[in-house]
Amino acid sequence: MVSSIHLVDPSIEVIKNLKDSYITEQDFKITIEHKSGQDLVLRPQKKLILIAGMGGKEIGSILTHLLPQLTVDDDVIISPHRDILPLRESLALSTFYLKDESVVLDEGRFYQVICLSLSGNVKVHSYGTKIWGGETGRGYREHQLLHFNAHKDTRSLAYVSFLKALT
Ligand SMILES: C[S@@+](CC[C@H](N)C(=O)[O-])C[C@H]1O[C@@H](n2cnc3c(N)ncnc32)[C@H](O)[C@@H]1O
Repeated sequence: MVSSIHLVDPSIEVIKNLKDSYITEQDFKITIEHKSGQDLVLRPQKKLILIAGMGGKEIGSILTHLLPQLTVDDDVIISPHRDILPLRESLALSTFYLKDESVVLDEGRFYQVICLSLSGNVKVHSYGTKIWGGETGRGYREHQLLHFNAHKDTRSLAYVSFLKALT
C-alpha cells in the first residue's frame, strides 16, 4: 500500500499545474516540490522512484546523485526519451541490477521502461534483452533500425549489427 507520493520538478510552470490539478483528499499523501532530481534527499522508507520523460544524460546524473541514498529495498523505474545507448552502457557498468524492462507504444512513440534495483543477479544489458519480443518489440526494432542506420559512429554501427542479428 502506498502511503505517500512525492512529486518534484524544476519547472515552476509544471509545479503550478500540478498544484492546481491534484486533488489532495486522497487515501495517501501527495507532496509537490519545486526541485530537481539532483537535489532530492531520500527518506529511509522503502521507495519506488520514477524518473521519466528526460534524456539519458539527465537521468544518469539524477541516478548518480541518488545512488548513495538508495537501499536494496528500493526500486527505480526510468524511462529515458533520448541518449538511451550511453545511459544503458553506464548502467551496464554500474551497481544497479535489472529487475524488469519493456517497451511501450504510446500515441505512435516507443518508450523504454527499465526497472532497476541494487539487489538482484541480472546486469543491465547495453542494448536491452527483454524489450525485443512481441509485436511492440518487433516494431521498436524496425524503428531503431531505421533511425540508427542513418548514423555512422561506432556505437550506432555496433547497435545496428545487434538489431540485425535479432530474430
Ligand atoms: C517531457 S516531461 C515528462 C513528464 C512525465 N514524467 C512523463 O514521462 O510523462 C519531462 C519533465 O521532466 C522535468 N525535468 C527535467 N529535468 C529534471 C530534473 N533534473 N529533475 C526533475 N525533473 C526534471 C521537466 O521539467 C519536465 O516537466
